[in-house]
Amino acid sequence: MENLQQGSKGIVVLFGGIKGGPGKTTVAYNMAVQHKAAGNNVTAVDADDTTNLNGWGTSREITRESDAVYSDIPEIVVVQKTGKAVGKAVRKLADQLGDVIVDAGGLDSDELRAVALIADKWVCPIVASQFSIDTFGRLAEVARNANVMREQFDIDPIKIHLVINFAHPGPKSLNASKKKEVTDILEQAMQHEKNKDFGSIFTVLDSVINYRRVHQRECEGRGIGIGELKTSNQSALKGREEFQDLYREVFQ
Ligand SMILES: Nc1ncnc2c1ncn2[C@@H]1O[C@H](COP(=O)(O)OP(=O)(O)OP(=O)(O)O)[C@@H](O)[C@H]1O
Ligand SMILES: [Mg+2]
Repeated sequence: MENLQQGSKGIVVLFGGIKGGPGKTTVAYNMAVQHKAAGNNVTAVDADDTTNLNGWGTSREITRESDAVYSDIPEIVVVQKTGKAVGKAVRKLADQLGDVIVDAGGLDSDELRAVALIADKWVCPIVASQFSIDTFGRLAEVARNANVMREQFDIDPIKIHLVINFAHPGPKSLNASKKKEVTDILEQAMQHEKNKDFGSIFTVLDSVINYRRVHQRECEGRGIGIGELKTSNQSALKGREEFQDLYREVFQ
């Protein structure tokens, strides 16, 4: 991935959307874990006032200190930042420290709008449902507004990389048909005059994250990523592979 902001030490990857609950925080913390494991400097920014990512970071610290099984997991700094100034603060962190992963929450918030102005990449987890897809118009509007500003500052336009989460578990060979369900709906939406630029705003990633109870049961409470979970459970191992695939697609 290109580092779009010249002279910066790092990139900013935004995880955000408008719909509540499709896995933004889960995808963000797993990407932070993978990126750290790949040897990068990572700061995770919780820009959502639900403070879920921040809570995950606190759990991670407790696990590192008090759970002998996971005492070797690396530190990931999580900071909470909210308000309109979050864009500038995040950009500064990336410029000075390295790569930043931002969880900007599930509302059409000041934070989502602010980070969309300065992010290098925007990933939006979605559930492949009509209710979720109904939010695309508002999501596109956030990207369009960001791109008007970005153009003035000579920054490349931002695109929204949709990743399907909560899919029904099955072999990887089914990913293409899961993706097609979403691309078909996007194409249908583009028939409307107001959505005709959806093709330049949205792209659907090939990676698909399936529903795996292990995320809720084993990972989030401990503050670990699925890649760090010590397990021989087959579903968990498949889930780990899904996140490795997504990591490669987003960061390479
Ligand atoms: N692939 C998955 N399989 C099973 N559970 C999942 C998966 N992804 C996320 N979850 C669970 O679903 C719940 C919602 O996920 P998460 O909090 O990441 O969503 P969110 O988009 O950040 O929500 P919010 O809009 O409230 O910020 C969490 O309990 C999480 O553990
Ligand atoms: Mg969240």
